[in-house]
Amino acid sequence: MNLQSKLPNVGITIFTEMSALAKQQHAINLGQGFPDYQPDANLLQAVTDAMLAGHNQYAPMAGMPILLEAIANKVQAQHGRHYDPTTEITVTAGATEALMASIQALVKQGDEVILIDPAYDLYAPAVILSGGRNVRVPMLPPTADRLEFAVDWDAIHAAATDRTRMIILNFPHNPTGLILKDSDLDELEHLIDRHPQIVVLSDEAYEHIVFDEEEQRSAIRREALVEHSVLISSFGKTFHATGWKIGYCCAPESIMQEIRRVHQFLVFSVNTPMQVGIANYLQHSNVISTLSAFYQKKRDRLLKGLATTCLKPMHSAGTFFLLVDTSALGTGPEKDLAVRLTLDVGVTTIPVSAFYDDANAAASNHNLLRLCFAKQDSTLDRAVEKLQTLK
Ligand SMILES: Cc1ncc(COP(=O)(O)O)c(C=O)c1O
Repeated sequence: MNLQSKLPNVGITIFTEMSALAKQQHAINLGQGFPDYQPDANLLQAVTDAMLAGHNQYAPMAGMPILLEAIANKVQAQHGRHYDPTTEITVTAGATEALMASIQALVKQGDEVILIDPAYDLYAPAVILSGGRNVRVPMLPPTADRLEFAVDWDAIHAAATDRTRMIILNFPHNPTGLILKDSDLDELEHLIDRHPQIVVLSDEAYEHIVFDEEEQRSAIRREALVEHSVLISSFGKTFHATGWKIGYCCAPESIMQEIRRVHQFLVFSVNTPMQVGIANYLQHSNVISTLSAFYQKKRDRLLKGLATTCLKPMHSAGTFFLLVDTSALGTGPEKDLAVRLTLDVGVTTIPVSAFYDDANAAASNHNLLRLCFAKQDSTLDRAVEKLQTLK
């Protein structure tokens, strides 16, 4: 059949591609972002108990009241903001569905959406499906003096117009590990002040993984931003259970009403026993308050190991990713190097260029690869041993 694709430029994702190559080559997979260890046994038990107690039929469309209440309490404790669990919070099939539902609900034909490159791969196709137009604003890449990316607020202000409907933020940031500074929130306030029609879609999938005693500066902490913001999070990332695909979003009622209109026809509701199990688990677990320290140890272990290789790690302030500069191995397309490392050394990574609009463009290639450290210590150590053979 002769179909005209709605997403002609979308193929399989780089994560799928590199994971398949890792499997084929029996390489250590530091590419795709998922843990190689189990969630807490108490969480597994809580979900099992919920199933055995009969929580196996459809949940209410917006979520089980017990979980909506638990999320409201969690957000209040973290950010000092109260969201009404009956009208302002929705449980979603991962952060993925929250993002897709929000974009489909809020972006109309011809609307512009500002994305900050490097950007998570879902955003741009979701905007295209909604009939919107992506306006991609690259971060300032690292330089010899500043060894990290930086948000280019001058370029964002210049890109904003009367047609801008949304800006998508993702901090802690995948892939760079950047977190927001107070000055970033000041700039965001400035943007919304000038363009009050803009919705801030804040993808905070890694909100509980922030290092070095820093904190998660969410847009919702600012009075001037909270009415414009959708906060999105992922229990999969927080609870080492990425395969469960469960997350949530919070927004003022007028915005949430629209998001729910799409959510109810995307999935209607999210699997019930996970919702009940997570709600009960949240009452007794300290996993959230210990998560940053857990991952900081892994980050530091990998950093120490990488110091014995020719790869130069960059600072990661949050998430379970860090970037390495590969200039010592020569320059060229990052993807080629990522494939070479899998084939020759047996370690799989993700090229940062894959997070740009055109992965092949010179402006998308900065000799950087992304490594995931949500791995057992032994996995990280074995990867380092292999990377030590690089010359
Ligand atoms: C930035 C970002 N947003 C959203 C997601 C998707 O989260 P979930 O698995 O909860 O759908 C991911 C997963 O890798 C991510 O890195």
